[in-house]
Amino acid sequence: MKEERAYNSEMANAYEVNARISLPSYDAIFTMVQSYFRLQLGDKSAEVLAVGIGSGTELSAWGPSNPKWTITGIDPNLEMLKIAKNKTFELGLESRVKLIHGTIEDLPLQDAKFDAASCILVLHFINDVQEKVNLLKTIKANLKSGAPFVLVSAYGDRDDAELQDRMNVWKSFWLDNGRDLSTVDGMIIKAIQQLSFISENHIIQLLAEAGFTNITRFYSTGIMAGWICHAGDH
Ligand SMILES: C[S@@+](CC[C@H](N)C(=O)[O-])C[C@H]1O[C@@H](n2cnc3c(N)ncnc32)[C@H](O)[C@@H]1O
Repeated sequence: MKEERAYNSEMANAYEVNARISLPSYDAIFTMVQSYFRLQLGDKSAEVLAVGIGSGTELSAWGPSNPKWTITGIDPNLEMLKIAKNKTFELGLESRVKLIHGTIEDLPLQDAKFDAASCILVLHFINDVQEKVNLLKTIKANLKSGAPFVLVSAYGDRDDAELQDRMNVWKSFWLDNGRDLSTVDGMIIKAIQQLSFISENHIIQLLAEAGFTNITRFYSTGIMAGWICHAGDH
């Protein structure tokens, strides 16, 4: 298994508070994705794959309210998975949740494919474009034909003033939440250095290359956006 960007225990514990500052509409992502999946899946039992499940917001947002869904979460970071595992027990979801330590390549090969999948706030941690495509292709290969998929990621062209404008809005979210200017400026520099920004067109192109169709942006806040699509025919 490849080790990915490390969240130590302190960062993992602070993750959900910080995510809600970075993205004031963080919880809305999960509410919207739930509605999208429900629309697509109807009332039937469904196997949902959450790639990069982290501390498990996917579990608390979708598990209790969708008793016919079984959720498989996969993540290479043990500190984040530890929180997701505790959440599974707290919510009484043990019989409907499977957590796997690893990246999508560590997903055991199986004949039964997933009915839906998400990859929320993960793609920008993968620097290499070919690796991004491989991740998306492997998700697609694990989905039933026509299954819904949701991607949420940072996006933007580094050379474009438009991204700078959105960075400034992002900065404002943090300042309004009591962080001082020098800390926030440091975070911006770190984010620019560590996150892999590609333009929205490029993300759409990668999704299409991986075999997804009907790609539509459904969400956008600050430096992040989200796209819904379907696994195309094999
Ligand atoms: C910002 S967190 C998002 C967690 C959760 N999806 C959410 O929205 O709250 C990003 C997660 O992606 C995981 N990650 C990084 N690279 C990954 C990869 N190649 N495959 C799967 N997960 C990955 C990290 O370990 C981390 O837990």
